[in-house]
Amino acid sequence: MDYKRYIAENLQIEGVSAEEIAESVAVPPDTAMGDYALPCFKFAKVLRKSPVAIAESLKDGFPVGGAISEVSAVNGYLNFKIDRKGLAEETLGRIFREKENYGSSDLGEGKTVCIDYSSVNIAKPFHIGHLSTTVLGGALYRIYRFLGYRCVGINHLGDYGTQFGKLISAYKRWGDREEVRKGGIHAINELYVRFTNEADEEMEREARENFRLIESGDREANELFEWFKELTLAYVKTIYEKLNITFDSYLGERFYTDKMQPVVDELREKGLLQESRGAQIVDLEEYGMSPCIILRSDGASLYATRDLAAAIYRKNTYDFDRCLYVVAYQQNLHFKQIFKVLELMGKEWAKDLVHVAYGMVSLEDGAMSTRKGKVVWLEDVIAKCVEKAYRIVDEKNPALENKREVAEKVGVGAVVFGALCNNKIKDIVFSYDKALNFEGETSVYVQYTCARAASVLAKAGKYAVKQDYGVTPCAQEFELLKALADFPDTVAAAAKAYEPSYVARFCVDTAQKFNRFYIDCKILQAEENVRDFRLALTQATLAVLTNALGLLGIGVPEKM
Ligand code: ARG
Repeated sequence: MDYKRYIAENLQIEGVSAEEIAESVAVPPDTAMGDYALPCFKFAKVLRKSPVAIAESLKDGFPVGGAISEVSAVNGYLNFKIDRKGLAEETLGRIFREKENYGSSDLGEGKTVCIDYSSVNIAKPFHIGHLSTTVLGGALYRIYRFLGYRCVGINHLGDYGTQFGKLISAYKRWGDREEVRKGGIHAINELYVRFTNEADEEMEREARENFRLIESGDREANELFEWFKELTLAYVKTIYEKLNITFDSYLGERFYTDKMQPVVDELREKGLLQESRGAQIVDLEEYGMSPCIILRSDGASLYATRDLAAAIYRKNTYDFDRCLYVVAYQQNLHFKQIFKVLELMGKEWAKDLVHVAYGMVSLEDGAMSTRKGKVVWLEDVIAKCVEKAYRIVDEKNPALENKREVAEKVGVGAVVFGALCNNKIKDIVFSYDKALNFEGETSVYVQYTCARAASVLAKAGKYAVKQDYGVTPCAQEFELLKALADFPDTVAAAAKAYEPSYVARFCVDTAQKFNRFYIDCKILQAEENVRDFRLALTQATLAVLTNALGLLGIGVPEKM
């Protein structure tokens, strides 16, 4: 329930919109006077009355009864008290009714969102730089689906380019079928790295020829390419599985090979194409951008050309209401350019394309060297985090069953949460110790809180779930209830701002409120009605946190 809105909608101030009123409603530092307050000073000018008089007259017109149980006017402030019992009834009732759907809605019914994320490059390392796009995209996918949208997850594979010519050359020189089969992506990457280190002019020429062979449909070259692609995908899918990530389409850049010419033709027809030093470009100077290059002077297409074709294809295929590109901010210009070009082409839906940009992730220990050279493979980060999680779990609770399973959820969760807990545009320095801190603003803190709630419930055994417990929530219970009641709005806001971090913050905030409640209020020893009420609140918290973590792709161990 959005109390600020509720209050605003029940007040009439001439010349001030409900929106503006809602923005002015604040939570006072001391809630003894009220749970919300509206300072009336800002309306003095428009209404030509004193704030004190305004507060008085507004008070008389406000309907007490519904969600607000008390209104008072004090020194130019209008103070509101929430009907706490009503809030408890409504919120707990709704959570128990809707269960794993609590927080969902039909906001997106009949609408389609395409989400381009992770978008790995074939035969290239899947490294720490892919973490954010993968988990952000995955979270947005789940959040939008939760809100009733049809989601199309697209892995726009980087499977086009001269590097595949190099790879084929390297394989033919030094490759061994059996070794590559066993070593998979790592073996392929080693071949590629070796080639770039050792290539002379002759080898480069050969690589270009091999690329040409792929392009011209040569069977052997294409078989090798498909094999490398298969090995890469088999590998990344093991990581997607760990991260709870799925895709509906793996159509990569190569798929658009025969779909670019029509785009070039259309650009030319519409008078948008210009020649510049032999290349074909769309001039964007008027819009303060460098030109978008469509064809190089040798006639080769570019990344942008394929993205133009892909956007058109997606619109035709999925008729999306919105298409998101979850890609690092380094590509800001690229997306501004292609969105502008599509707009100039008269695609009115260009306004529905959104670049969801995010910051860089690096590791605290900087250039950590791995067994595979300089890049930090995401696989290694996850494995290391799970291993550390195991050691911590083992130390805290050596008798715990299925420690491996718990460590997996904790370790993977820490990596995911590490990439999702801050505003997405911020650069992140990932620290294993911080991410696994039980007392920090971390996923493990939230998971531990869930396990704590589950353990209280297990100890309590059966209890009576009622509509009315006859209990007026105390301050701690009230804070927790407000947080739980906010979850649906949080999910909607996260979708609107493309910020899964809102959900991550919600988790930490709610867990903190639960722990305040848990520490300050006796649950199991309380008298019957209070005990039942507190158990219901505990169960509701566990349900909501499980939903929230689930949206981020993070599992909840039953015991820790
Ligand atoms: N594979 C690209 C890269 O690693 C990302 C592709 C993003 N998606 C897109 N439609 N351009 O930079």
